Amino acid sequence: MTHDLVIRNGTVATATDTFAADIGIRDGRIVTLADRIEGASDEIDASGKLVLPGGIEAHCHIEQESGMGLLAADDYRTGSISAAFGGNSCFVPFAAQHRGMAIKETVELYDSRAAPKSVIDYSYHLIVTDPTELALMKELPEAFARGITSFKVFMTYALSKIDDRQFLDILSVAKAHGALTMVHAENNEMINWMSERLLAAGHEAPRYHAPSHPALAEEEAINRAISLAKLVDAPLFIVHVSTPGGAELVRAARARGAKVWGETCPQYLFLTRDDLDRPGSEGAKYICSPPLRDAATQEALWHQVRTGALSLVSSDHAPYRFDETGKFNAGPDASFKQIANGMPGIEMRLPLLFSEGVVKGRIGLNQFVALSATNAAKIYGMHPAKGTIAIGSDADIAIWDPEQTWVAGEMHDAMDYNPFGGRPITGRPVTVLSRGRRVVDDGELIAQPGDGQFIARKPVDLTGLKGHQADELNPATNFGARVAP
Ligand code: URP
Ligand code: ZN
Ligand code: ZN
Repeated sequence: MTHDLVIRNGTVATATDTFAADIGIRDGRIVTLADRIEGASDEIDASGKLVLPGGIEAHCHIEQESGMGLLAADDYRTGSISAAFGGNSCFVPFAAQHRGMAIKETVELYDSRAAPKSVIDYSYHLIVTDPTELALMKELPEAFARGITSFKVFMTYALSKIDDRQFLDILSVAKAHGALTMVHAENNEMINWMSERLLAAGHEAPRYHAPSHPALAEEEAINRAISLAKLVDAPLFIVHVSTPGGAELVRAARARGAKVWGETCPQYLFLTRDDLDRPGSEGAKYICSPPLRDAATQEALWHQVRTGALSLVSSDHAPYRFDETGKFNAGPDASFKQIANGMPGIEMRLPLLFSEGVVKGRIGLNQFVALSATNAAKIYGMHPAKGTIAIGSDADIAIWDPEQTWVAGEMHDAMDYNPFGGRPITGRPVTVLSRGRRVVDDGELIAQPGDGQFIARKPVDLTGLKGHQADELNPATNFGARVAP
């Protein structure tokens, strides 16, 4: 059999196995896995390297207007390049509907942003802020039909928030079409109540962002979101879980048969609220929501990751520069309430997880693969085309030097700071392939903007997962799901 490319002499790892093999690639797919593959028009020597499924970054904000109305600093060119240098072959940013905007218009806008610029494959999660009858009955099903099979809703942020009734409508439509609803779960009124009191007492500095978003606000909202999903037996994904209590709710719900998954993010594993207290206005760099917590929370979240309660570690890359175009768009003296929420991390996610997770023995290599690629591919309808190394899968591959030591500094994004800057890291992705094309090779960018393709995703796969039947009633079955006739 002829191959376009062979990766030789590497140690291959998937979410379940680690083995020595050559990988033969043809027409963008893996076609051979063997001890030794002879002959190829092109080859990569991976001696001493790890050959892993390319990362899938499933939570990032690229060329997107935020819930505070601010455009992210990264477009699909810089965002995808930075993702690739961070070991990712594919990413799934958000396509954000704003109130009054049609879903179709939203998807077309993001197609025009992504297609000419992305160097890696991409899909979108839809952010739904305006679930009109037209959106629920016609436009969301149309989006599902073209392979956009997940979307996010917000329980907080004035410009994005939906109420519980709208949440139920969306969950019910999602269930009917096999889509997955993602949720930013924080109690809006607890946050506003705390913020008003802090500001009235003159507490405006970045450090007060943490108490303004109490852990209880997350736990209450996660509990409510899970209850709403259980009422209609719809799958649910809790994004950026920052509290052990929230992670425990996810674990317990799934253990009882509900279709609930969750993720945490590097900022909650590697930073603490002390970073919000850095001198001058430096703390603004660390404002994100949910906010940074404390060292005990970090340890508890590592435990929830290690034991599988949380299925992904995603970056929540939300890049706003440390200037008046980003963090300080409301002015140089902005209070914690006005400073843009979010921080970059798309290029740091996997090196941090490898260095602090695998090298330090908190997780094994196979779990690293699961957390960085395989679980995202499964949850978001891309497996087994993506997220694994197997015959027939896309040749989305990241070759890692597990021993390279380096210090985190400037990244390839459009940002002017790296919240993880100065950290010593062991392990680095050196070559990244997307469908067999070299995107990054030996630390050099090879791919061109526009080389990435839109990935039409499958419905969420609930095989093997037992649903939850609400005791009293199940509107989806008793009263008919909200599906257009
Ligand atoms: O502060 C954050 N996380 N900003 C990005 C938007 C979101 O809520 O994920
Ligand atoms: Zn969010
Ligand atoms: Zn986010």
